[in-house]
Amino acid sequence: MPEDDVARVAELLRGAGKVVVFTGAGVSAESGVPTFRGAGGLWEGRPVEQLASPQGFVADPVVVWEFYQQRRANLTRVKPNPAHEVLARWQYRFTSYTIATQNVDGLHQAAGAQHVLELHGSIWVIRCSACGRARVDRTVPFPALPPRCETCGGIERPGVVWFGESLPEEVLDAATAAAGSCDVLVVVGTSAVVYPAAGLVHVASAAGATVVEVNPEASAISHIAQHSLRGPAGAVLPTVDSLLGEA
Ligand code: OAD
Repeated sequence: MPEDDVARVAELLRGAGKVVVFTGAGVSAESGVPTFRGAGGLWEGRPVEQLASPQGFVADPVVVWEFYQQRRANLTRVKPNPAHEVLARWQYRFTSYTIATQNVDGLHQAAGAQHVLELHGSIWVIRCSACGRARVDRTVPFPALPPRCETCGGIERPGVVWFGESLPEEVLDAATAAAGSCDVLVVVGTSAVVYPAAGLVHVASAAGATVVEVNPEASAISHIAQHSLRGPAGAVLPTVDSLLGEA
């Protein structure tokens, strides 16, 4: 990663008032959380439509729950990495600062980030598919699958967004508003192929924001980014942060 690219991004951020960070699975990769696409990704060799769609859940809730339970169990063994830590600290640096994440793992919050827009929900939220009652529940493993709603006895589901479902409206609206009015959008660790979340990059770019990408590989939005820092987020972000100096 050329040093002057990092220095230019640090310079850009030093002069920025409103910053939005848009993250994907890559920001948690160095914590030991698998990404979705590519070799070794969660979707490799797995039937996505069976594991991450409302139809798949109706057909076999236990199979879907076993997949999510395994992910929840893995998450109990990981902790935030330096990328999450830098992104959490930046909440004290800018006039306006928003983290909008596609991740459901809660690692931004575990690093201390206070207002995280979870575009795809949270794996720690459980919602009744019958009455809609939602709650935070960190039980791993559940004594029986699928878990049942205490209120109505209905089958509970993970509080995440599945393919074919809408994103939580107020979360997407807040993220769109922030992206549409920021000076700099930092896109970290996402292939940027899943919409509407990836649309945030287009919203920010169309509104005149400078787009910075942090990703070891090119992504679907690389052509829009003015700066591409090609490296792992856990190394790149601390380097940028060290050049920013004291807040
Ligand atoms: P992907 O698996 O599609 O992409 C992960 C990205 O992270 C890739 O571009 C990698 O190059 C990059 N990456 C890997 N290691 C990295 C590192 N150490 N530092 C920085 N970047 C790294 O994951 P997402 O883009 O998050 O949705 O996927 C988007 C959505 O698709 C997910 O939220 C999920 C999935 O299906 C739902 O489940 C609705």
